[in-house]
Amino acid sequence: MTSSICEIETAQFSDEFAEAVLSGLAQSHKNIPCRFLYDARGSELFEDITGLDEYYPTRTEIGLLTKHGPEIAERVGAGCAVVEFGSGSSRKTHILLENLTGASAYVPIDIDDAALKEAAARLRADFPRLSLYPVHADFSQGIDLPDEIANARKLGFFPGSTIGNFELDAAIDFLSDAGDLLGPDSDLLIGVDLQKDQAILVPAYDDSEGVTAEFTLNLLRRVNRELDGNLVISRFAHKAIYNDKIGRIEIYVESLADQAFEILGRKFSLKAGERIHVENSHKFTIPRFKALAKDAGWTSAQVWTDQNDLFSMHYLTRA
Ligand code: AVJ
Repeated sequence: MTSSICEIETAQFSDEFAEAVLSGLAQSHKNIPCRFLYDARGSELFEDITGLDEYYPTRTEIGLLTKHGPEIAERVGAGCAVVEFGSGSSRKTHILLENLTGASAYVPIDIDDAALKEAAARLRADFPRLSLYPVHADFSQGIDLPDEIANARKLGFFPGSTIGNFELDAAIDFLSDAGDLLGPDSDLLIGVDLQKDQAILVPAYDDSEGVTAEFTLNLLRRVNRELDGNLVISRFAHKAIYNDKIGRIEIYVESLADQAFEILGRKFSLKAGERIHVENSHKFTIPRFKALAKDAGWTSAQVWTDQNDLFSMHYLTRA
């Protein structure tokens, strides 16, 4: 796996968090991997972000799934097993499964066991004929699929443009590994956010109510809670910038003053204006994502976009 400040995985243990924070802050390009944004409070704040006026991805993708569900179902065909990477509440899967009447099984993969159980209970009630095989695991690490679906054709599902969190090399590695896991006959339905005017992009990551700022700063609160930190939160600001050379939103915590603080008994200092990089969210053009998928062994057989070209869903087949 290529080194990345933003691999998608959730920390299970504080020492993993401790190691990432201590080593990330010791580097010249100070960073903390974005997976640590999602503790219980962070996941709650992310849910709030998905409902913000400025945050267009979630509602746009749900619109695409709803509108094109029947067409997606036609492509998928009967008898497939749906495997979702990072299923969370499975809210979007619900829409997908309503359309995929021929799906035989659903395999949600998530690091959050509580969310997995809750989603499974709801799906069991709503889709009584569907076999459910929840997998409690970090989908960015090596995982095994349940034996029960060994002979089924698989449809991978990776919504939300979570692929955008990966560095480009790591995104190719992830998609390639997903292809190996799902098998030669599999397909993958993936949500991919599109490049667009910064006047739309930047507010999506710096909203007027400050929810995204709170989501970012919660990372520092988490450092204080879990790693015995003494950071004064009001001395930091959330900063979202669009890097148009790379085509991504970069999110930083910016120091508002020359300051010093301690984490697990170690001393750190930041100059006024100095930043800690905490997240990337890559934005793609359709040709660019098609090329990336191709590098990972997939062919983009069909793409759906909304009428404002905000967001895309690609239907990938094995090359
Ligand atoms: C969950 C990675 C898709 O990049 O849009 C939203 C995360 N961070 N606002 C995104 C996020 C701040 C989100 N993803």
